[in-house]
Amino acid sequence: MRQLSREWRAAGEKVAFVPTMGALHDGHLALVKEAQKKAERVVVSIFVNPIQFGPKEDFASYPRMLQADSEKLSSLGVNALFAPNAADMYPAGYETYVFNEKRSDILCGHFRPGHFQGVLTVVCKLFHIVEPDFALFGKKDYQQFTLLKKMAQDLCFPIEVIGCPTLRDPDGLAMSSRNLRLTPEERALAPELHRAMQMVNEALKGGETQRKVLLDIFAEQMKHFPAFRVEYAEIRGASDLADFSEAIDRPAVLLVAAHLGSVRLIDNLELSSP
Ligand code: PAF
Repeated sequence: MRQLSREWRAAGEKVAFVPTMGALHDGHLALVKEAQKKAERVVVSIFVNPIQFGPKEDFASYPRMLQADSEKLSSLGVNALFAPNAADMYPAGYETYVFNEKRSDILCGHFRPGHFQGVLTVVCKLFHIVEPDFALFGKKDYQQFTLLKKMAQDLCFPIEVIGCPTLRDPDGLAMSSRNLRLTPEERALAPELHRAMQMVNEALKGGETQRKVLLDIFAEQMKHFPAFRVEYAEIRGASDLADFSEAIDRPAVLLVAAHLGSVRLIDNLELSSP
């Protein structure tokens, strides 16, 4: 993979990289199309990274469909699909990891210990293997995106990390490979999460800036849908994920995680300025 990428770059071509765990949906394909606007060559990786899943998480049941994914990527004209296996990425005796001291253990990281260390480690390795000029990630995983951007900066990767807007189904549900595992009833209910988030944004636009009041609006609305088990809902600084003490007085994002049946949904909304 590295040799191929170096050949392209030696010929003066730019390389854009879209790391994924497969089960590709339109959100991933939008990242690929954006990558194609940025660079002559586009590489997609598919690797269900074992070290970013906790022992009780869905590593075994995570959807895997390499053949169908590969066909989708060929039809878009992707130049390379890099799909390593776990033994190549983490051979026996593997012992080096990357973590962020400040932001790995908040929000999703609090509920998924070790998750972001797994993500940062694998993406760091993938960056070294693919050596791209650009790397594109969906903003649905907002915390992941901010951590990867910071990693590229802190570890001096000469890579521009680009965040792309979340793609949604027409009813508002953020696209995710995990949506495939919702039952039809759960799928019908799932957009309520985004609807409750939009109510927070509407309240902010209407002049309500108190953090607690805004979060109560979300919590009250979600009480109508007891099938959800909300893990967290927080409003954080859009660029640094820092907490607000009271008033939302700078660009902010609402971040939410909730379980619905056996699926853990996450979503976020960059809030309109008050
Ligand atoms: O967002 C994902 O699919 C994964 O966390 C990533 C960035 C490909 C790392 O395994």
